[in-house]
Amino acid sequence: MLINQVRAHWKILPAVLAFAMITIVINTAVAPASKSMAKFNSKGELKRPVDYREWVYVGTPITPNELNNGKAAFPEFHNVYIDPNSWASYKKTGEFPDGTIIVKELVSVGSKAAVSGNGYFMGDFLGLEATVKSKARFPGEPNNWAYFTFGKQPKLNATAKAFATDKCAACHQASAAQDMVFTQYYPVLRDAKK
Ligand code: HEC
Repeated sequence: MLINQVRAHWKILPAVLAFAMITIVINTAVAPASKSMAKFNSKGELKRPVDYREWVYVGTPITPNELNNGKAAFPEFHNVYIDPNSWASYKKTGEFPDGTIIVKELVSVGSKAAVSGNGYFMGDFLGLEATVKSKARFPGEPNNWAYFTFGKQPKLNATAKAFATDKCAACHQASAAQDMVFTQYYPVLRDAKK
C-alpha cells in the first residue's frame, strides 16, 4: 500500500518539476513591468499610495513654527518612506533606480510635553506628498524626478498631477545631497550606502 503511494508520487514528479519551471519563467518575464510601485492613472496622474506604511522608513524632519517665526512652510512632522523595491536596489548600487517612489507623510505636532520631557510629539495624520523618478514619464525633468501633493485632511485627493519644475524640483536640485533627495537628513539611506 505505502509502496504504491510512493510510486504514484514518483510518477507525477516530472509534471511537478515542469510546473515549477514554467512558474519561474513566467515570474521573471513579468517582474520588470511591475517593478515600480508608483501607479499612474490613464491621465498620467499619480495614484495616492495606500500601503506606504509597509515600505521602508528613512527619517522624520520637522520644521516647527516656534523655530520659524511662527510661520513654517510645513510646520508638521515629515515622515519619509521609500518603496521596498527601490530600497533593495539602493542598498546594492547606492543609487535611486528608475521607478523609485519616495513619500513624505505629514503628521501634525500634537503634544509638546510628555513624561519624558518637553518636546514635539506626533499628533494626527494630515496629508501626503511624493516624488517619483521615471525616465519614460518625466524625460524633461531634472534627473527625471517629478513632485506631487495629495493635499491635506479633510480634503485628501486620490490622485495628483506633477508640479511644474520651478515649484518643487528646483529647490531639491539646488540643495539635496544625493540625486535631488535630501539624504543628509535620512540616516537610514546614508547607512545603507556604507
Ligand atoms: C525651498 C526648498 C523646497 C521646495 C520648494 C520643496 N521642497 Fe521638498 N523638501 C525640501 C527639504 C529641505 C526636504 C527634506 C527636509 C524636510 O522634509 O523638511 C524635502 C523633502 C521632500 C520629500 C521627501 C524626499 C526628499 O527628496 O528628501 C518630498 C517627497 C518632497 N520634499 C516633496 C516636495 C514637493 C511635492 C514640493 C513642491 C510642492 C517640494 N517638495 C518643494 C525642500 C524643498
